[in-house]
Amino acid sequence: MGHSYKSISISEEAIKVLENFSLPEDLAFGKVMAPIMIEADYANGKWGEFKMVPYHKLTLDPTCKVLHYAQEIFEGLKAYNADGLGPFLFRAEENYKRFNLSAQRMAMPDVPAELFLEGCEAMTSHCSHLIPTESGSSLYIRPFMFATDDNLGIKPSETFKFMIVASPSAAYFSSGSVKVLVEKGAVRACPGGVGHAKTGGNYAASLYSMIEAKKAGYDQVLWLDAVNKKYIEEMSGMNFFAVYGNTIKTPTLTETILNGITRKSIVTLAQHLGYQVEETTMDIDELLSDIKSGACSECFACGTAVIITPISLLGTREGEHFKLEHEQGPVSMRIRTELLNIQEGRGDDPFQWRQSVK
Ligand code: COI
Repeated sequence: MGHSYKSISISEEAIKVLENFSLPEDLAFGKVMAPIMIEADYANGKWGEFKMVPYHKLTLDPTCKVLHYAQEIFEGLKAYNADGLGPFLFRAEENYKRFNLSAQRMAMPDVPAELFLEGCEAMTSHCSHLIPTESGSSLYIRPFMFATDDNLGIKPSETFKFMIVASPSAAYFSSGSVKVLVEKGAVRACPGGVGHAKTGGNYAASLYSMIEAKKAGYDQVLWLDAVNKKYIEEMSGMNFFAVYGNTIKTPTLTETILNGITRKSIVTLAQHLGYQVEETTMDIDELLSDIKSGACSECFACGTAVIITPISLLGTREGEHFKLEHEQGPVSMRIRTELLNIQEGRGDDPFQWRQSVK
């Protein structure tokens, strides 16, 4: 189980808790945590030791800066071991690059590439026996960093904690498709803000609308641009795609959209599979009328957690429903299958996205 890593110290206790851990049968997503974690502290302009230790609760001072001013970033990536073919990490360097872009925006220090990547590999390697082997399930790895200065002054923290935890997880959504409410009131992110950074506040900002959407019978919210309330952005935790025959459209990336790694992979993969991909401005009213006319036959959402989830219906607060022709469209499902084949090691890996971890 696992091996040593050059930059990470692995405690004997971590090895012991791994030996004594047994995986519950019912996993769900992000609920069961692996019994180990990685932690490191930043102070005086440098990172201290990166340590793998038993999973444990944190002790924070009540003035800990993150609790008040939300100076925090995170990533999500998966290690797959379907049918025991892995474990494979998927495009972890992309998560690393985005992590440090988020860090820059949130006035936080860089984490060295080798430590971020080695940390994800070490968690995968040591938890390889805990990765569920059913297709679509995985070890969901969550690197994150937060401000730890203990005082209430509103200025950038000078101390930080970096951690990696991981969760043996089943697929994110249990149902085969989602219903989506178009949000024309609240906004998720505005130009010049932090929408492109993977920081907790963007997710917190989405929760009120999410509750309202659930009350109205929807699963998710589709965000529009803050200025015109007209152009499709993303879905908090997921990017958005619409299928028009052989053409697949997705909103052009802006500073108010998270640059999804699954999104980017789908753009490349769909082109490889012969689809025409358009990264373009998408007007919500045009999309809704294209769904009505049948010009748009499928919509889907994608993200690391969900991979690809088809959208069966878009609705508005005025009570209009725009039902997609397919609840699980053939294009969405084909791309999902092809992407999972790469991620889980069944298919070729034409873009070298997959990394085997022993
Ligand atoms: C991911 O796909 O990793 C996400 O960011 C979604 C997460 C917030 C559950």
